[in-house]
Amino acid sequence: MSVAPTRVVGTPADRLEGRDKVQGEATYAYEYEVEHVAYATPVVSTIAKGRIRSIDSSAALAADGVIAVLTWENAPKLPKAEGELAILQSPQVSYRGQIVGAVVAESYEAARHAELLVRFEYDVEEHDVELRADHPTLYKPGKVNPEFPTDTEEGDVERALEEAAHAIDETYTTPTEHNNAMEPHATIAIWDGPSLTLYDSNQGAHAHRETFAKTFDMPPEQVRVIARHVGGGFGSKGTPRPHAVLAALAARHVERPVKLAVTRQQMFTLTGYRTPTIQRLRLGCDERGMLTAIAHDVVEQTSTVDEFAEQTAVVTRMLYASPNRRTTHRLARLDVPTPSWMRAPGECPGMYALESAMDELAIAAGIDPIELRIRNDPEIDPESGNRFSTRNLVACLREGADRFGWKPGSRRNGRTLAGLGVAASTYPARRRPSQAHARRNGDGTFTMRVGAVDIGTGARTVLAQIAADELAVELDRIHIEIGDSAFGSAPVAGGSAGASSWGTAVVRACRLLRAGDEDEVHVDTSDSADAEEPLAKHGFGAIFVEAHVDVDTAEVRVARALGVFGVGRILNPKTARSQLIGGMTMGIGMALMEETRVDGRLGAFVDQDLAMYHVPVNADVLDVDATWIDEDDPHINPMGAKGIGEIGIVGTAAAVANAVHDATGVRVRDLPITPDKLVGRI
Ligand code: MOS
Repeated sequence: MSVAPTRVVGTPADRLEGRDKVQGEATYAYEYEVEHVAYATPVVSTIAKGRIRSIDSSAALAADGVIAVLTWENAPKLPKAEGELAILQSPQVSYRGQIVGAVVAESYEAARHAELLVRFEYDVEEHDVELRADHPTLYKPGKVNPEFPTDTEEGDVERALEEAAHAIDETYTTPTEHNNAMEPHATIAIWDGPSLTLYDSNQGAHAHRETFAKTFDMPPEQVRVIARHVGGGFGSKGTPRPHAVLAALAARHVERPVKLAVTRQQMFTLTGYRTPTIQRLRLGCDERGMLTAIAHDVVEQTSTVDEFAEQTAVVTRMLYASPNRRTTHRLARLDVPTPSWMRAPGECPGMYALESAMDELAIAAGIDPIELRIRNDPEIDPESGNRFSTRNLVACLREGADRFGWKPGSRRNGRTLAGLGVAASTYPARRRPSQAHARRNGDGTFTMRVGAVDIGTGARTVLAQIAADELAVELDRIHIEIGDSAFGSAPVAGGSAGASSWGTAVVRACRLLRAGDEDEVHVDTSDSADAEEPLAKHGFGAIFVEAHVDVDTAEVRVARALGVFGVGRILNPKTARSQLIGGMTMGIGMALMEETRVDGRLGAFVDQDLAMYHVPVNADVLDVDATWIDEDDPHINPMGAKGIGEIGIVGTAAAVANAVHDATGVRVRDLPITPDKLVGRI
């Protein structure tokens, strides 16, 4: 049998679940109808640090419809639970908004009402929630997320900086930022004897199953996690969150299924966030603009209950070469929730600083910023010494300059100052082990099952496209089922590795099905995922921005933005473009709006809703476009594709900041670029 030519991959197929979603028929975690269900709501701490002295649940228990009040005094014990998941296990309070109890009631409204009636008294201790570059608790973590060395050093940076023809030494800061997915985190927990089923809004059914099994000290086979439709995650649903543990604890306690959704306000304390960063960048170059020194020193925070060390400077190790290089990460332990994954953790804040600094160096050296990047594009990965599988940053810069009309220099039109900015973008191209299941049905259709989760990316559609090509059938012959830990192990929808990892398993399963007589096959790619060639594998891109700044109000508008990417083969141009411009839109938010302010006295995040925490809305997003160059990288997966989930955000904030500088001559080094930082300076 000859293999049909590729037809379906690479076409702009509509999302398979699109109609269900717009018709309200796609069922999200909280919406499953479950018999005899009870409703739980978290009770959260009103202090940032201390111990619970006493609890009075009597008024809450007497309220209509209340079934139980859970606190550390009566909650089931979880000796194996770790970090933030060890809720209701002790009277210790480690951050404001920590779960200290739950009300379980016959209705959501009854639970919300009774929540206000539970009385806690605390022995309050002094808290500290404010990150400073000289914080007394700063320490060097053993590694940075997920497994990178904390520091690196090569050559003599100090001396190279002294001898450099041009050098810059600047500090850039990014604030606390929150993911704010549209669908709040939600869980339904159902115990059936020793078995636990969770309908949960998350990015990885299998990974959640493993963590829940550990937390509740039970065999993984007894836990099933279902996440068929998820309304965004951006990292915040990549790791199990404390509210889901609470739902399962409550369900066990009242011996009924329990539904629990966090409120928008609680999403600011219970679902992770991006650490603020303080980044010192020192760059030096010779007369020709060749880098002679690169130093990136990062200060950021973690909590007292867990360690999360954002890998902010790691990207600086591979983007440009220099004989003298240094990267460091230091953490302060504060009385805050633990930071976690958010939209390209590491690369995103790190590249804001590095690519701003490159712009500053280009100006200092009198070299066009695109030319400076082209001159410093390394042949091999400076960190590992390995060849790149494919690296087309230069092509992206050139193509983008051409398409965008690269001609920097401030122009004034009435009250508006206009300028252009550029920045590089990059993100690792990964593949992780995954399983997949393929079945030939009697009617000419095929059923594919993968433990993947589609968090809005189009993963379900793309996996079906891959299967259609491998089986040489039309897309409508493929039934694709995802979002269930019962479908076998599969990696989380994160690290821009979903399509790469699950897709590889789908390819293998389909090939096995075609090659043999069996009507049903199951594959596991874990064997081959280990045997990787020593290549540096990354996607690359170039982001171009035209910023308009009002000379009176100092309001910044991104009038135009273009991303040009070299990210391997594009599996579906419609969903790909959507992901890329989505990432760029988040980058505009990071540059201009997003910030969670911290109140040092109360030990609290002040911003707790979308009225205060601004993300870009339609009116903020004018002309944003993404395109890509022809690339096919055979070294990552059989599809030739690289991940595209995160590369859109990575360079965008720097491109905006660089454009604002080009327009106004003002360099804002502390995100977000709000009018107060420009007014009076332009
Ligand atoms: Mo993404 S922050 O890797 O879920």
